[in-house]
Amino acid sequence: MPSDAVDGEQSRTIRKKIESLREEIRRHDFLYYVQSRPGISDAQYDALFRELKGLEEKHPELVTPDSPTQRVGGAPADFLPKFKHRVPLLSLESLFTREDVEAFDKRIRKETNRSDRSDQSDLSYLVEPKFDGLSVEVVYRNGVFHQAGTRGDGETGEEVTQNVKTIKSLPLKLSGKDIPKELHLRGEVVMTVKGFEALNKKLIEEGEEPFANPRNAASGALRQLDPRITANRPLDIYLYGLLYADGWKPKTQKEVLETLSSWGIRINLLRKKCGSLEEICDFHADLYEKRDRLDYEIDGIVAKVDDLELQESLGARARSPRWAFAYKFEPRKEITRVEDIVVQVGRQGTLTPVAILKPVDVGGVTVSRATLHNWDIIQKLDVRVGDEVRVARAGDVIPEVVEVNHKARKGHPREFEMPLRCPVCGSKVIREGAFHLCTGGAACRAQMKWSIIHYASRNAMDIEGLGRETVDLLIEKNLVQNMADLYMLKKTDLLALPGFKEKKAQNLLDGIEGGKKRPLSRFLYGLGIRHVGEQIARLICDHFGSIEKMEMASLEEVQNIGGVGPEIARSLVDYFRDARNQKRMDLLLKRGVTPQHETKQKSTGPLAGKAFLFTGELESMSRPEASRKVEALGGHATGSVSKNTDYVVAGANPGSKYDKARKLGVKILDEKEFLKMLQ
Ligand code: IVH
Repeated sequence: MPSDAVDGEQSRTIRKKIESLREEIRRHDFLYYVQSRPGISDAQYDALFRELKGLEEKHPELVTPDSPTQRVGGAPADFLPKFKHRVPLLSLESLFTREDVEAFDKRIRKETNRSDRSDQSDLSYLVEPKFDGLSVEVVYRNGVFHQAGTRGDGETGEEVTQNVKTIKSLPLKLSGKDIPKELHLRGEVVMTVKGFEALNKKLIEEGEEPFANPRNAASGALRQLDPRITANRPLDIYLYGLLYADGWKPKTQKEVLETLSSWGIRINLLRKKCGSLEEICDFHADLYEKRDRLDYEIDGIVAKVDDLELQESLGARARSPRWAFAYKFEPRKEITRVEDIVVQVGRQGTLTPVAILKPVDVGGVTVSRATLHNWDIIQKLDVRVGDEVRVARAGDVIPEVVEVNHKARKGHPREFEMPLRCPVCGSKVIREGAFHLCTGGAACRAQMKWSIIHYASRNAMDIEGLGRETVDLLIEKNLVQNMADLYMLKKTDLLALPGFKEKKAQNLLDGIEGGKKRPLSRFLYGLGIRHVGEQIARLICDHFGSIEKMEMASLEEVQNIGGVGPEIARSLVDYFRDARNQKRMDLLLKRGVTPQHETKQKSTGPLAGKAFLFTGELESMSRPEASRKVEALGGHATGSVSKNTDYVVAGANPGSKYDKARKLGVKILDEKEFLKMLQ
């Protein structure tokens, strides 16, 4: 949007207004995210935010990187650039027993000529939780958040500045006294346990692989090329270490944490200065007991010599400092019995053996199934029906059988065999490395079901109203056999399904229709080709630009696309050469699916980059028509409301999205206003 021409006086007033709005928003962010003590209602906050956004849109020259509006905004990157750490990010020595800790303490005492009695308080440690997340370096320049990078190999990681910027508990601007010009901090990005569970639930409903634990989920979220995806993931950050500061010489780790806190950085409260081995062990026991009640995963405690001068004199070994250690927790394990071993068939035909267990509580979660991964693992464990087993959930929500008590085995239970035929469709099972695969492809109902769920999922075709249950129903009633059949569904078909009335049926049909023009890369991802994830799909689409070109591509050409390895290339080429897939693709295209390749520069036009959501019935046009109009002007239509939605267009009888939009403070247009905008 062009900036309004303003004279000096006016410009100063606007600048002042913008700065005061930012200050106020920052203060409320601090109260809400750092202190968990909201100062105003969500609606009041949204109003402030909208006002700031409005002013900045009118005066883009006044937008600064530390503005609260800039948390989300960066365009997707092609790859994550390298990030060189100012000082190497060391690792920690892991200790597992009290004796290990005692020996460590003794060694330090000796090296620093202290008494060798660990109950003498002439050596203190600052002890903190060991966050089970992703280690990052965060850089502030002149008190403003400047850059962030993952740990990588400790020397060089990946730059994730835009992604870290979306984490609301990280202040983009520090406030307080004597803030160093250049400040490099170390911390951990974690995913909240609640957020992780919700994310996994959603992934499972959409037929996607869930993450094994919050750490993997946090890593996946942080290393996204598109910061808008990161912004929608429940990430948090705890900063715990000083790497470098211009002209600031704190004396202790305790002082570091307290000063960071005084500048508005959220510091974990579960920390303690310990003057003896006993206190360290008590802290360890205390946190072990608390860990299941925390909303982030911890896998132990970290003890650091508190005195920074002493730290320096103790120095470091090749990869870990001599002044700190991690005292890890025992993984959560419980004993139970295997009642059965069943085989599940996944989207790509992988057969996964699963142990059905006598339900047992493992760290606050009732576990009744545990993955046995694959045949090799079953062999290695020698697990059989009836066996007493130990199940672990080492920070992992997907439990696994880690040990079998062979001594307790009664009689001679039969060894488990992988089936020779798929338990769902009866097709032949083949072996590929450690995996067994069903060869039924689209003819296997299990594969078909999961692939349709995946096709409809949010990051693929985003078909509103087509979740797991509906897909189950459609398959059960023989209404669909593959994704192309979705486009043949009629309202009368749907109305005959249990729980479907006029509105629900219409919404589903609209969802299917609205999904026809999704970006090419989402379509490609939605096809569920082995090894072709979202980012790879984007790389492939940027190279080819159309399905026709992909169909013709040689293995060599695909392999030559930067970032696409030989295994992925093989999988893509095989997919397009398979006659069944070709037939389905023809049907999809014939039935109106016309994925559009978005070149990066293409987003021009008066609505460039704007996200629209339509809810309710429009009088003058259908929703797909409205989406096309928006797209023609450079904008795009989405299937769900989030803070990233720019406009919600509400027709008659709008649905729940209307309320959500209001709650989020998204601008709502009625049909008249929308038509005016199109003009
Ligand atoms: S201090 C040189 N403090 O644990 C000091 N690390 O296994 C090294 N970690 O890579 C880091 N919580 O990512 C420190 N309170 C904490 C921590 C912590 C988690 C991670 C860190 C490190 C890993 C070592």
